Amino acid sequence: MFKPLKILDEKHKILRQKSKEVKLPLSKEDKDTIKQIIKHLTYSQIEKYSEKYDLRPGMGLAFPQLGKLKRIIVIVYEYEEGKFQDYVIINPKIISHSEEMVALESGEGCLSVNREVEGHVPRYARITITGYDQDGEKITIRAREDLSVAFQHEVDHLEGILFFDRIDKKKPFFTEDEIRLI
Ligand code: NI
Repeated sequence: MFKPLKILDEKHKILRQKSKEVKLPLSKEDKDTIKQIIKHLTYSQIEKYSEKYDLRPGMGLAFPQLGKLKRIIVIVYEYEEGKFQDYVIINPKIISHSEEMVALESGEGCLSVNREVEGHVPRYARITITGYDQDGEKITIRAREDLSVAFQHEVDHLEGILFFDRIDKKKPFFTEDEIRLI
């Protein structure tokens, strides 16, 4: 039986707090939560299920969005039509990044932000991120383009940062000369 997650709205103060490092091994509860997140994010990106369960499509979620101030992020990335790759990183750290910046042309969204926010969010085009997987093994992931953006968005959640904090209020949109829009 699938039950959609209860995701905190942006107004909730927890989303503005810094999450704590997670001690390994992971608890059964945290593993179960990760499973639920993966299912929710996957279903949200499959029309049949997103309609059936009234899910807003999203590719990433961080634990604080469920009211848990723990440094765990999950991304379910559709790398090919109907094919999904899950990424779970515990205690993630962005250890290096490109000079080059990009921004999603149509802006970013967030499952905690239930409104349209217009503007470009500058992000690194490429990053290397390290952390631990669910078995407590050290992992290193290199991400580029939209996947790189997704990781940066989720890591921001662990610092209490929401994507619109990074939009310049005075000049919310970049031109193609200023940043590569993807
Ligand atoms: Ni978000």
